[in-house]
Amino acid sequence: MEYIKNYITQNKDRFIEELIELLKIPSISADSAYKEQTFKTADEVKKRLIEAGADKVEICQTDGYPVVYGEKIIDTNKPTVLVYGHYDVQPADPINLWESPPFEPIIKKTTIHPEGAIFARGACDDKGQFYMHVKAFELMMKTNTLPCNIKFMIEGEEEIGSENLGTFVKQNKVKLKADVILISDTGIIANDVPSITTGLRGLSYLEVEVIGPNRDLHSGLYGGAVANPINILTKMIASLTDENNHITIPGFYDKVVNLSDAERQEMAKAPITDKNYLESLNIAAVHGEKGYTSLERVSIRPTLDVNGIWGGYIGEGAKTVLPSKAYAKISMRLVPHQISDEITELFSKHFESIAPKSVKVKVTPHHGGAPYVTPTDFNGYIAAKKAMETTYGKTPIPVRSGGSIPIVALFEKELGLKSVLMGFGLDSDAIHSPNEHYGIFNFLKGIETIPLFFNYYSEK
Ligand code: BES
Ligand code: MN
Ligand code: MN
Repeated sequence: MEYIKNYITQNKDRFIEELIELLKIPSISADSAYKEQTFKTADEVKKRLIEAGADKVEICQTDGYPVVYGEKIIDTNKPTVLVYGHYDVQPADPINLWESPPFEPIIKKTTIHPEGAIFARGACDDKGQFYMHVKAFELMMKTNTLPCNIKFMIEGEEEIGSENLGTFVKQNKVKLKADVILISDTGIIANDVPSITTGLRGLSYLEVEVIGPNRDLHSGLYGGAVANPINILTKMIASLTDENNHITIPGFYDKVVNLSDAERQEMAKAPITDKNYLESLNIAAVHGEKGYTSLERVSIRPTLDVNGIWGGYIGEGAKTVLPSKAYAKISMRLVPHQISDEITELFSKHFESIAPKSVKVKVTPHHGGAPYVTPTDFNGYIAAKKAMETTYGKTPIPVRSGGSIPIVALFEKELGLKSVLMGFGLDSDAIHSPNEHYGIFNFLKGIETIPLFFNYYSEK
């Protein structure tokens, strides 16, 4: 496809410059200190969509951060692709572990990205990835090659659970009418091993509080006779998994769909080995549920992880205190057909039941989301497969991912639409971590592949 390659060669420096400008705005949805900047990012996205050639571009207000919408309808008899992405990013902390400031993007070469990568919060998740769609759209407009209708829906609350997007989708079914959803917010196995994501895990996220005595106590005067909430909390958490790393919450696995041996054998063909984990993470061994491979543990099996734990004295030096309270944030990744609300309920009941009389516990649910699995034989997947085959020269491998994009299951439920998860990031791009980056190769490859998706999808 010469016209695509030519357009990219002529414009790639500008594409990168524009992405860098977008990355400079700290659109951290989780932190209200960045409220103004997050709204400003929505305005910026609107501007970019207009410049790329979209019509009816608007900022759609919600009870939280707005959704940016835009469209180009060329022929109502032709199919419509709805592109989804998110302009919000994760908080940057721990800030001291960044080698360069998170909102001052710089390009550096790495072993994995010899052509350079852009280092900034949101570079890969998801500004760099949704921006590929804006630029691929510009390319199709400028070369007069847009083969079907396109709609954009770029939201600003993905990283905090898309809580207002459900309502937005329900209230805007006509506006969002489409034939398929196209999303680049996932990854590929490696730059020479293309893959397409065929599944996402669901999520159940909550916070627990263990309450002991009514005030902090001298750990000498009281220690030994009064329950220490941190000691209790850590014991309770430890009991949530057994010696096989199986989750002990009664009923937790009841709805889990077990894969057939044939399906597991098919999965095992993906070139992802424990060696990848050991070397890239500098660990001596992997860890997980007995009876499953690492790839299975991060995709077809549910998990429970503590995301944060605190209480007591954590300042400099020592303080002999028996704290009054202890806290933890806990998340569970879910697989078909586990239901987030049910799992949250099972967790809460169990957690309350295992608490000794010496403490009180409080469980506060945060957001959740349903798991999602796509077939590989529907027209959207096939179009993505053909597009990647053309640009990578290899057939992409279907892989179920361990991450979550809760809104994807909701799109299916409310709009009746399947999503194509054609992402271009790498696991090593450090999303949600310090020094997040996105390869220039990946960014440009995405812009090259997307127009081909549109072409194949529009072929009848
Ligand atoms: N883009 C990620 C999810 C992802 C990344 C899926 C890589 C597959 C591969 C998304 O922005 C994300 O971080 N989602 C959150 C869930 C949300 C409710 C906070 C997650 O997975 O933790
Ligand atoms: Mn994302
Ligand atoms: Mn994310």
